[in-house]
Amino acid sequence: MLKVEGLHVYYGAIHAVKGIDIEIPEGSIVTLIGANGAGKSSTIRAVSGLIKSIKGKILYSPSGASQTDLAGRAPEEIVKLGVAMSPEGRRILPHLTVEENLQLGAFSRNDKDGIERDRDRVYSLFPRLKERSWQKGGTLSGGEQQMLALGRALMCEPKLVMLDEPSLGLAPILVKEVFDIIGEINSLGKTVLLVEQNAFAALKIASYAYILEVGRIVLQGRGEDLLKDPRVKEAYLGG
Ligand SMILES: Nc1ncnc2c1ncn2[C@@H]1O[C@H](COP(=O)(O)OP(=O)(O)OP(=O)(O)O)[C@@H](O)[C@H]1O
Ligand SMILES: [Mg+2]
Repeated sequence: MLKVEGLHVYYGAIHAVKGIDIEIPEGSIVTLIGANGAGKSSTIRAVSGLIKSIKGKILYSPSGASQTDLAGRAPEEIVKLGVAMSPEGRRILPHLTVEENLQLGAFSRNDKDGIERDRDRVYSLFPRLKERSWQKGGTLSGGEQQMLALGRALMCEPKLVMLDEPSLGLAPILVKEVFDIIGEINSLGKTVLLVEQNAFAALKIASYAYILEVGRIVLQGRGEDLLKDPRVKEAYLGG
């Protein structure tokens, strides 16, 4: 569904991503793992069209549609094609309510019934958000804001959902809940690209994984194989 070929990302003189190849088959969960500054967020921001200074191909071919190179396209257009991102941190709109934040996620749509159905689906995935639908985003707890960011990404009828560290800063019990929800999102038929610091949980849920170090892929393989790999254990799973 997505094939990234020879992707480079630049921030002025900084060369953050140095020619990576990634493949995400339709219906799979693929994870990108790496230390701080490895280039994980840069990669998904490039796919989302949020970074202009890139090189390489981002070939998107959802089933039933022809192949499109996303490189150089506007972020709104990429969302309309079915690629959503839940950004790192709590990038929700603090002065809008939970409900309004979700509606904003559907900005590219005008099928009122479909939007309502997806909103209800988000509320059933996250009952906590439903209870708080009238609360201002900024007054939610960190974990609740994280759930809202995830829910919002589901509101644009995505085919591919990219999640940037969805478990960041969550209590262990919530981390488990978020990973369960990622599994549910996937079983709803959505393909998932997951960026995580929690390598153990990410490798467990993902069918395939890439390990990034300073802008390059240094290791890749099936999630379950990498979990047993001594190099991965040493560097990312605490020995
Ligand atoms: N807007 C920017 N301007 C300049 N450099 C940037 C910018 N954004 C990221 N970088 C640099 O690019 C490199 C990769 O950053 P990126 O955010 O992609 O890493 P990451 O793997 O997501 O790390 P983390 O786990 O800390 O989120 C880092 O060295 C970072 O300092
Ligand atoms: Mg990041």
